[in-house]
Amino acid sequence: MDGNGRWAKRRFLPRIMGHQRGVESLRMTVRFCRDIGVEYLTVFAFSSENWRRPADEVSFLMSLFMKLLEREVEGLHQNDIRLKVIGDRSHFDAKLQEAISEAEALTASNTGLKLNIAANYGGRWDVMHAVHEMLKEHPELATTFTEENLQPYLCLGDAPEPDLFIRTGGEKRISNFMLWQLAYTEFYFTDTLWPAFNRRALEHAVSSYQHRERRFGRTSDQLAGAK
Ligand code: IPE
Ligand code: MG
Repeated sequence: MDGNGRWAKRRFLPRIMGHQRGVESLRMTVRFCRDIGVEYLTVFAFSSENWRRPADEVSFLMSLFMKLLEREVEGLHQNDIRLKVIGDRSHFDAKLQEAISEAEALTASNTGLKLNIAANYGGRWDVMHAVHEMLKEHPELATTFTEENLQPYLCLGDAPEPDLFIRTGGEKRISNFMLWQLAYTEFYFTDTLWPAFNRRALEHAVSSYQHRERRFGRTSDQLAGAK
């Protein structure tokens, strides 16, 4: 969800107004995904590198996160949405950690959209953390483990690999997001800044995805033969 700061700056507003406005885009995206039957939506809210930002921006983002949990979780629950926060939450303050755990517990058995919020998340952290956790439980795998052994220890170990990756805000990079899981994902980059990312923009991304041919290493002819 990139481009909040620039969106605000262009309007001569403080950066935090961009974050505030970005919440609307997130709301729209969640609703849209629920409506069209998307099973998993994972949004990158705060990277492990974002702590390097000015302290007042970081603390605004933390309190925005807290406020959203307080205000929105009930609505998510009523819409059968399961919320999960992925990332190293041990760096958040105790109250925020508690709110996260409560929100996850409340929505844990919901079967509609699975909404994952990546916060203090990094793709390399995810892989390294998974390796450590796996070896703690299975030291005997140290020299022999396979991708399948590791999979359940990754943050989204129980989820299918993402079909579509969308990055707003014009940058053409992954920025350490879901490195492992994006191996065969389709990429969509748009210059639209996150707060301006509306329903039409999201429909455009989805329709672009629908025109891709996903070969997973095979040839077009093989795919045609399989139909
Ligand atoms: C993304 O918007 C939101 C967060 C990282 C929380 P940015 O804050 O990165 O906005 P730009 O890239 O400065 O425009
Ligand atoms: Mg940015």
